[in-house]
Amino acid sequence: MSHSTAPIGVLDSGIGGFSVVKQVQKLLPGEELLYFGDGAHIPYGNHGSETIVSLARYMFQFMEAREVKVLLVACNTISCVLDRCATSCPVFSAVQAGADAAARLEVDKVGVISTVFTHNSRVYPQKIAAQSPRKVVVLSCGCPDLARLVEHSLGSPQGMSLVEDNLRQELDHMVLEEGVDCCVLGCTHYPLVADSIRRLYPGLLLIDPAVEMARALKDCLDREGLSNPTERPGGLSIYTTGDVEEYALRARQVGLERVTGVEFYPPMGLS
Ligand code: DGL
Repeated sequence: MSHSTAPIGVLDSGIGGFSVVKQVQKLLPGEELLYFGDGAHIPYGNHGSETIVSLARYMFQFMEAREVKVLLVACNTISCVLDRCATSCPVFSAVQAGADAAARLEVDKVGVISTVFTHNSRVYPQKIAAQSPRKVVVLSCGCPDLARLVEHSLGSPQGMSLVEDNLRQELDHMVLEEGVDCCVLGCTHYPLVADSIRRLYPGLLLIDPAVEMARALKDCLDREGLSNPTERPGGLSIYTTGDVEEYALRARQVGLERVTGVEFYPPMGLS
């Protein structure tokens, strides 16, 4: 049985979910957060669906064992296979949040950038078209390298120049030739380099699903009577199957607050 002081679980293939943690800490500072980043297996976006489902179930079990009251799937790629991952608490999908935010806009042409897996699933175009009251064109672009580059490049001028080269390679066509009215950042790693995207494409409206996710989470906690009533600010406990030092550094670079610990957790073995 969920109780209000239990933590909120946040999971991703890597540090991308930090963009979601950031929005949740801003909107719901009293909540305890438990983060799992599967650094050993990133990028998920280039795996097949069976592998992604197995890896996702492993993380779901981790969260279930720690009795989180709500689970934020802060990974668009996993969100595409959510119907195959069961858990007993309410689950929030990054793709649903991004599609909800895009469908509300009064625009004609929506761009979506995502991992290759999310792109191939067509979930974003289908959801946005189904939910939008207008006739909207959705252009989707799958980026094979961007999440991995972001994961390892924050704070490094050399790395960030590779990120920006890659952004240009992936986005120029959609933004400069197709002239999309907005761009959904359909991988949670991408909001972490939103400043670079804004600099490369001034005036392009960016949609960060994390903002919508945090808002939907707050509504759910209020509605279900699950908001943490404790007066003091909540902590953030991070687990990773990757490099603990790197995760601690990235958490600082992203500006996450009240990190109570960063610990290693053994990765699932892939045959
Ligand atoms: N951050 C993840 C997403 O939102 C995926 C990055 C990856 O592992 O490929 O899709």
